[in-house]
Amino acid sequence: MRAVEKRGKALVTGASSGIGATYADRLAQRGHDLVLVARDKKRLSDLAAKLSAQYGVTVDVLKADLTLRDDVRLVEKRLREDEAIELLVNNAGIGPKGPLLTDDLDYLEAMIELNVVAVNRLAIAAAQTFAMRGKGAIINIASVVALVPERFNGTYNASKAFVLNLTQSINVEAADKGVRVQAVLPGLTRTEIFDRAGGSIDRLDPSMVMDVTDLVDAALAGFDQGELVTIPSLPDAADWHAFTKARMVLSPNLSHDRPAARYGVEQTAAAV
Ligand SMILES: NC(=O)c1ccc[n+]([C@@H]2O[C@H](COP(=O)([O-])OP(=O)(O)OC[C@H]3O[C@@H](n4cnc5c(N)ncnc54)[C@H](OP(=O)(O)O)[C@@H]3O)[C@@H](O)[C@H]2O)c1
Repeated sequence: MRAVEKRGKALVTGASSGIGATYADRLAQRGHDLVLVARDKKRLSDLAAKLSAQYGVTVDVLKADLTLRDDVRLVEKRLREDEAIELLVNNAGIGPKGPLLTDDLDYLEAMIELNVVAVNRLAIAAAQTFAMRGKGAIINIASVVALVPERFNGTYNASKAFVLNLTQSINVEAADKGVRVQAVLPGLTRTEIFDRAGGSIDRLDPSMVMDVTDLVDAALAGFDQGELVTIPSLPDAADWHAFTKARMVLSPNLSHDRPAARYGVEQTAAAV
């Protein structure tokens, strides 16, 4: 066991495998006590025992199915009432089984419950709580597909665009109240997510698939550098800044009292 400086407690959702389990490992290594959340209690307890033995941190397990409102409220309660919690990693999520035109609507609605409704509730509860305390950080796991709705399953893309927008918006409201936020946009990452949805990562171009430890180490480096949006694959951050700047070009013209002349709409008599 290595002695490291103790840091605040971190709550990680979807900590039983993949990106969440890797965050749990890296945060424990940095000296954070942990609350691990997911459905599979056995996997969480095994990971908790391993991390506390390896890093000397305290690790609690909170079993919750985040598609169920009562379970989400239980996690929210923990976030609001456990004053040691200083970091939320809002990570639990599921991927699509295929394209929209062949996907199952009940599955897609469960995806929205997990990827959107639960993420929204936990992110805002954490932002409100941390703002009141003047201290805390939220890491929301989105995806690069938030930026390319033309590719991949639309409900999944939209759920991740929601996470990105939400993060950017919380930042505007909470940054001056001591709350740090970060959206992480992984590309393809080697985890169980594809097998769980009935696919296989091995069918994908390996040059596009990142190892999960590299992904989390890069995302935490982006967090340490103070990035609001971290895209671990993107070589040049200037490309992201150019994209944001191009989007803001639209800003002065997004709401006027008259439609643009190019639509040829006559002014109505009432408005004259
Ligand atoms: N892997 C990629 O290529 C990739 C790319 C971009 C973004 N992401 C995002 O990264 C996040 C983590 O995914 P991953 O790749 O690490 O996948 P993963 O290995 O399948 O892990 C998903 C985690 O979410 C938990 N989870 C699933 N359903 C849940 C539910 N109903 N309630 C509570 N927890 C639930 C799982 O635990 P239990 O089964 O124990 O509940 C597991 O811990 C997701 O938000 C995903 O959209 C992944």
